[in-house]
Amino acid sequence: QSELIFHINKPILEKVPFLKGASRELVEELMNELETRVYVPGERVFKAGDVGDAMYFIHKGQVDILTKDDKLIATLGEGFFFGEMALIFEGPRTAGVVAKQFCDLYVLKKESFAHVCDKYPEFLDHIHKVVQQRAG
Ligand code: CMP
Repeated sequence: QSELIFHINKPILEKVPFLKGASRELVEELMNELETRVYVPGERVFKAGDVGDAMYFIHKGQVDILTKDDKLIATLGEGFFFGEMALIFEGPRTAGVVAKQFCDLYVLKKESFAHVCDKYPEFLDHIHKVVQQRAG
């Protein structure tokens, strides 16, 4: 079962730098929890101020991170993640996200995120580091 999951999800493993270096156990756990979703160009993933219920890993494509009044903050592509801040701070979405191209995203729901963070502190550490860079 876990071999199969590993095989199916190999493409995402190779694109997310953090996952490449992570323990097999953590990767398997994450793979069990992730769900895939496809977005078309211009489609909104969520708005600034929304309640955050998940974080997202970009498997394919690019997304724009936008302020409340739609000013561009950043563009993120393959191997990056977003939507982690609302989960960590338990606050509203700090920015909006819109698909810039056709995108395959892997969704990690809030409950699964909490579970993985509890069990694998190194996952939370990594997320914290990225949040610090983005906030700073
Ligand atoms: P969250 O606040 O949940 O929803 C908006 C997301 O945009 C946020 O999590 C981050 O993932 C992302 N984000 C916010 N600011 C930046 C930034 N300066 N650079 C890259 N991504 C950002």
